[in-house]
Amino acid sequence: MKVLAINSSPRMDKGNTALILTPFLEGMTEAGAEVELFYTSKLEIKHCDGAFTCWLRTPGECHLKDDMQMLYPKLREADIWVLATPVYVDGVTGSMKTLMERTIPLLLPLIELRDGHTRHPPRQGTRYGKVVLVANCGLWETDNFDPLLVHMKAYCRNLYREFAGALVRPNGVMLGGMMQMGAEVNDIFEAARDAGRQLVQDGKMSPETLGIVSREFMPLEMYVQQLNQGLQMVLDALEKK
Ligand SMILES: Cc1cc2nc3c(=O)[nH]c(=O)nc-3n(C[C@H](O)[C@H](O)[C@H](O)COP(=O)(O)O)c2cc1C
Repeated sequence: MKVLAINSSPRMDKGNTALILTPFLEGMTEAGAEVELFYTSKLEIKHCDGAFTCWLRTPGECHLKDDMQMLYPKLREADIWVLATPVYVDGVTGSMKTLMERTIPLLLPLIELRDGHTRHPPRQGTRYGKVVLVANCGLWETDNFDPLLVHMKAYCRNLYREFAGALVRPNGVMLGGMMQMGAEVNDIFEAARDAGRQLVQDGKMSPETLGIVSREFMPLEMYVQQLNQGLQMVLDALEKK
């Protein structure tokens, strides 16, 4: 089983997204998957220029020459795409959105009706694979992922891929600190690892396991107080410089 993972956090392996993504991918590898990970920050991915060349003049081929040319065969062959992103203004990062826009060559131009909905059919040569979202955000509530989930599910319907679920981590900005302080958050990382194993072995992730990934680790009022206290300390230190 081939897994293509893309992490769009500009903070790459040092970021909060990676805190969940790393054990998740380790779990997939342990279960026997062949996992490849890329960071959008290390890739050159130009913006789609809307020329529709990939649909009209060079069917299936984007005319923009950049790192997408290396990614296209991997996107076509992968059984699972893992799209990892921090929440940026209620959606995916700009670089993830750019990458998603550039997957349009995987579709055909002429639309058809599928289950009463107009869609572009998939171009031959792309596997009907799955998509998993791995996301974290700064705010406390799980509903901060709602717009992202709506978008990702719609994207999967249009790309003819199965949305296999999401590992979402609210208050992700505090998770690393909690871990360093020795707080009991290890079950969150273990659940991410289990979810990876489950997806490869059983083809699906259990809602209980995903629930642990998102579980509350600090009451709301305490989160507000602790986060603001930490930020104020940084602001004060910078002011003294
Ligand atoms: C430009 C920008 C926009 C953000 N927008 C949101 C947001 O809408 N909601 C939220 O909860 N957090 C938001 N955040 C916070 C990030 O999701 C949070 O810092 C996350 O942990 C970053 O993950 P990373 O370390 O992997 O990059 C934003 C951060 C940045 C830099």
